[in-house]
Amino acid sequence: MITVTDLLGRSAELSPASDSAQLDTELLLCHSLNVDRTWLKTWPDHQPQPADIAQFELLFKRRLNGEPVAFIIGTQGFWSLELCVSPDTLIPRPETELLVETALQLDLPTNSQVLDLGTGTGAIALALAAEQPLWQVTGVDIQPKALALAERNRQLHQLDNLSIYQSDWFSALATARPQPETGFDLILSNPPYIEADDQHLFEGDVRFEPASALVSGVDGLDDLRLVIGQSCSFLRQGGWLMVEHGHNQGAAVRELFSAAGYHSVETRVDYNRLDRISLGCLPESY
Ligand SMILES: C[S@@+](CC[C@H](N)C(=O)[O-])C[C@H]1O[C@@H](n2cnc3c(N)ncnc32)[C@H](O)[C@@H]1O
Repeated sequence: MITVTDLLGRSAELSPASDSAQLDTELLLCHSLNVDRTWLKTWPDHQPQPADIAQFELLFKRRLNGEPVAFIIGTQGFWSLELCVSPDTLIPRPETELLVETALQLDLPTNSQVLDLGTGTGAIALALAAEQPLWQVTGVDIQPKALALAERNRQLHQLDNLSIYQSDWFSALATARPQPETGFDLILSNPPYIEADDQHLFEGDVRFEPASALVSGVDGLDDLRLVIGQSCSFLRQGGWLMVEHGHNQGAAVRELFSAAGYHSVETRVDYNRLDRISLGCLPESY
């Protein structure tokens, strides 16, 4: 008879294709048996039903073909939340949590107005809305299917302080500013920032994600240029802009911030010590 331990042993087959083979196998088995990882550790000798084993085999085969675990099981953890994911947008990455962490460290008004541009699954917007119930958070995306997913996640986590709607970057946002007392207190974005001919697009999980969430022109900076350039008109004076970017784009992004008139411009590194996000503050007298 086949046990939980036997099925977990299949992880060796995944090792060439995945650098997290053990974890991937555990997650696929949890999904097939409808249990959590603690249960697997508690019941190593359990003998799953043939139908559950068949389900595991099906999922395992998809992972062997390279499909990301998050797309196979339909969910991904981000910050404190479990989010629904789909091939319509990016799978939220742990590196992106640095945007959330840094946003929560800023000295912002209790009832801040916050905008997440290119919200995808809603990951950043949802995490901030959950952490700061008095903030009013807006998440926009150009892709209707990504928006439907973000709205599903919003309902799942019952976050009434988050609105989600369609916009091509700032195009659907009403007023051009700045004004001293109106405008967003904080704008965040994890836009597409990969160069069009980057070979990484043909490797690993990224192959299964849509180009619309990843690629941004020849140098990867087309969307960052637009977001940084236009953001000044939608922030209040003294408001903050914060963006995620590639590890080799820090200097170029800081230049874009300075050229747009931001001060206190800095880049922060992720847990791999790679440049990951940059931020800046709009002058009070802008
Ligand atoms: C790198 S993904 C980030 C998704 C999510 N914010 C996250 O961090 O996981 C970029 C997102 O920007 C969206 N996007 C691309 N072009 C856009 C545009 N012109 N206007 C608004 N959103 C756009 C994509 O659909 C995608 O969801």
